[in-house]
This record gives sequence, structure tokens and C-alpha cells, in this order.
Amino acid sequence: MRAIAQPNIALIKYWGKRDTEQNLPAVGSISVTLRDLYTAMQVEFDDVLERDELTVNGAGDNSMLPRLSACLDRVAGTDRAHARIFSDCNFPIAAGLASSASAFAAATVAAAAAADKQFTIAELANLAGQASGSAARSILGGFVELSNRDSGIEVTSLRAAAEWPLNVVVAITETGPKAVGSTEAMEISRRTSPFYSSWVEQQEHDLETARSAIADRDFGKLAAIAEHNCLKMHSIMWASRPPMVYWNSATMRCLQAIRKLQGAGIDVFFTIDAGPQVKAVCLPEHAVKVAAALSATDGVVDVMTTAIGEAARLMDES
Ligand code: DP6
Repeated sequence: MRAIAQPNIALIKYWGKRDTEQNLPAVGSISVTLRDLYTAMQVEFDDVLERDELTVNGAGDNSMLPRLSACLDRVAGTDRAHARIFSDCNFPIAAGLASSASAFAAATVAAAAAADKQFTIAELANLAGQASGSAARSILGGFVELSNRDSGIEVTSLRAAAEWPLNVVVAITETGPKAVGSTEAMEISRRTSPFYSSWVEQQEHDLETARSAIADRDFGKLAAIAEHNCLKMHSIMWASRPPMVYWNSATMRCLQAIRKLQGAGIDVFFTIDAGPQVKAVCLPEHAVKVAAALSATDGVVDVMTTAIGEAARLMDES
């Protein structure tokens, strides 16, 4: 069975866990799914296999296999047959572009179908979220909110992509994998950052502001809260011990380019995840200008423009 999922970028960030065993987030988050970036994941259970096998973009690659095998166990049960897994991804993996979100959302949907199991959206989100918190949001498309519930998490669609067709321009400033993965970095933040507890306390306010901005399609309001929430998350990391600074000099230059565009009346704002890439969210009529400005920024190696995308889904019934 083959499923496809888009990565998502958080406008209000998930940073910190309330339960590391179940991988439950300490805070809710809001994201948009990216239409033109994808991971396609094929899962085939086969009794003759002696272990799970993973092929990434056509080559054997075991780096993600332990997390994928655990994900398949949760979806199909630990008594499942071993699996052949083929992953195809059209963007840099583990570089702060949410590759784990699309990978685990696609793997969850493909494995459920391969095991002939029917799950609700809430169940799929919890299964994907146990593999990687942000993956739960890629189960749905458009503007998605992830909320904490006593029993786990819940994902809801705040708006379909077509109802507010924003664009996202991704500026790649480095293609290598990041130094510290999000999972570890979040725990370092929780244990050592003096700003962590106020981050958790203030998150509901940021979520409420973003929720109402999305309901009203108020770009300026969404821009202000998303940039604030992003910089707050990075402040936690900078103030952790050891400090975690994911930015490089091109990241900073992109922020300056975006400030300049804003000064010229362009509707655009930035967000940055646990990596050096900058994502500029803008109105579609400004996407060409934003992409041109970021392409011309020293240190930017590639620029991709995408619309907001759809939910994770099966690609075929074979
Ligand atoms: C900065 O979902 O990768 O992108 O649950 O440990 O796998 P794990 O973390 P992950 O963290 C994403 C962090 C972020 C913000 C976000 O996507 O909300």
C-alpha cells in the first residue's frame, strides 16, 4: 500500500513534551500543510522477510528504520509480519523541513491500509503523533490545529487550503542534516531553559490569537503572532544549556530581506523551525517578489514556492 503526505510548517509551534513515553506535546500547535513537498511511503507486509527493510529514494537506508518499525508495530500490532518499506521524498531530509512529519503521516496511513485496519482521524493522528508529534498535523490538510486532550491529542481543520490560499516560500540555506534533532532539543529546553515554563503558559494565548486570525483571514494578525511565537521558541533554545542555535548567517539575512519586503508593503511573514531554513508565508500575488528577494539573498542555495496542501491519503488500492 502506498500513501502520500505533505510536510507541514507550524505557525504556532510545538516545542516541549508532557509525556516522552507516549510522545505527547506540552502545548497545542497550529500548522499549514505544504502542497508541493511530499513523502510517498509504500508498506508491504511479507511473512518471508526476516526483518523490516527500508529503501529511501531508491537506496538502502537504515537510519530511520527503528522509528519506522516502532510506528508499524503501533499501527499493525507487534505480531505483524516484517515489512518492505519504500520512502520517496522530494526535499532535503532532516534539515528542518519537517521531513519526519510527512514520513510518519504517510507511513501510518500506508501501514493501516496494508494491515487492513480502519482508524478514525483521531486514531490516525495519535498513531502518527506517537512517532513524531508534528506528523499528527499532516494527517489533515489546510490549516490544522493540534490540541491536547486527556486521552491524547486531537487534530482539527481550522480552514481548508482553498478557503485562504496562502503561499509559502521556503528558502534553503543549508542542505545537511541538523546537529541536534528536535526530540532531544525539546528535552534539553524543558530541563534547562529559564524561559520554558512561560512558553507553556503563554501558548494558549498565541493559539487563540492565531485561531481568530485564521477565522477572520486577517493576514497582519496572523503574521504578528506567528513571528512572535517562532522567535519565542528560538529564544528558549538559545537560552538552553547547552545552547542550541539552528540559524546561520543566511537565516538572518533572509529575516532582514523579509523585513525589507514588509517595509515595502508586501504581505509576508517568516517562520523558522529546528533548522536554518526560512519559510516565508505570503499572499499568492506576492509570491514571485518574495521568492526573488530570497533567491537574491547571499547564502540561499535554493528557493521553493508552494501552496497550502491536502491531507495524507492513499495513492492506490493495490
Ligand atoms: C520546531 O515533531 O520533529 O518543527 O515529536 O520529537 O518527533 P518529535 O518532534 P517533531 O518537532 C517539531 C518541532 C518544530 C515545531 C513544529 O513543527 O511544531
